[in-house]
Amino acid sequence: MALLPGAAPLVVPRPLPAWVQAAQQAAAEPPKPKTRTGQHRRAPFASHREIANRLAEDVTDAWFRARGGSQHAVPIGVVAALALVAPVDEGGPDLGDQILALSPDELTAMLREIWGIRWWQEPFLIERARPLHDWLNEEEPDADLAYAAHKVAHAAIKSGLLDVTGHKDPGRRSDTDVLSRLIMDMRSKAKRLADGEFHTPDPVCDLLASVLLGGTPVAPGMSLHDPAAGSGGMLRAAANHIRDRGQNPADLHWYANDIDELAVACCAVNSMVWGLGPNVVVAKADSLAEPDWPTRARAERAAIIAHRNRVFQQAATEAAHRKALRLLTNLTQPQEEAA
Ligand SMILES: C[S@@+](CC[C@H](N)C(=O)[O-])C[C@H]1O[C@@H](n2cnc3c(N)ncnc32)[C@H](O)[C@@H]1O
Repeated sequence: MALLPGAAPLVVPRPLPAWVQAAQQAAAEPPKPKTRTGQHRRAPFASHREIANRLAEDVTDAWFRARGGSQHAVPIGVVAALALVAPVDEGGPDLGDQILALSPDELTAMLREIWGIRWWQEPFLIERARPLHDWLNEEEPDADLAYAAHKVAHAAIKSGLLDVTGHKDPGRRSDTDVLSRLIMDMRSKAKRLADGEFHTPDPVCDLLASVLLGGTPVAPGMSLHDPAAGSGGMLRAAANHIRDRGQNPADLHWYANDIDELAVACCAVNSMVWGLGPNVVVAKADSLAEPDWPTRARAERAAIIAHRNRVFQQAATEAAHRKALRLLTNLTQPQEEAA
């Protein structure tokens, strides 16, 4: 129906429905900053061991679907690096969501940063973990690897990795060995059979730890050694047993060796995730051929720490020189202008 020209339309004001008013009001308000995108699925009711099983399957699947190839240390290294981070503020923005929002290049940069920062804190363990981050040491990391690593990071976060490892309290990070499951899933059965690589399940490790340590007084300074450590599952169980007794695993000395370099790398990372403390010595060593490997490994550890200290000293001196130069420039320029 058309209105005749000149005739004013008859408008009867009617209140808008409440839901329209609410929608209009919401649209007018500036958007609230999002702390959770909801992408990062949390699984608070799944046990950490169930999460570790699912994560190993999902990550392996993501890696091979993305045509990641035979460099299994790359996806294991992605999970290992993410296991080393925890939110600064547990009530703040969701760390999982933040990681999921990164592009492949940004993720690569973040992984480099994680290993780099940890190197300052634990240079020996990060050196031992080198197979897990060597691909990032290239000036320009391989784009295909970066793409597959990005898929792996998504699979790991969505499977609940941070629910297992993202706690401030190391006791809460020590229920399971995420990396062990991943090594086993990534490697072919043929390789595992050839190397004898069958890690002990978590509950069996826990039982053995309570049997072996149950009747033994645990004193600070005592040493514990696994001469075929894999990724360190026995150390995890021993640390938990010690915590249950009200003692601190960080007061002990921990030794772990294995003939498999990748297992050793995972063991080094795990010792940080599980909070084994400052006295951890891990090495690739054949227990039968080199029973005195701890002597060699302790010397390597001392050399690596001395190198870190030298680099730190050099960086501090350079920073001091730069600061002095800036001060000098600021002080001298006005005088020159005045002259
Ligand atoms: C059965 S797994 C045990 C791993 C770990 N202790 C656990 O309980 O999960 C055996 C491990 O022993 C390592 N291994 C085999 N022969 C070795 C040797 N001569 N010296 C050191 N490690 C060895 C293998 O590489 C493998 O990681």
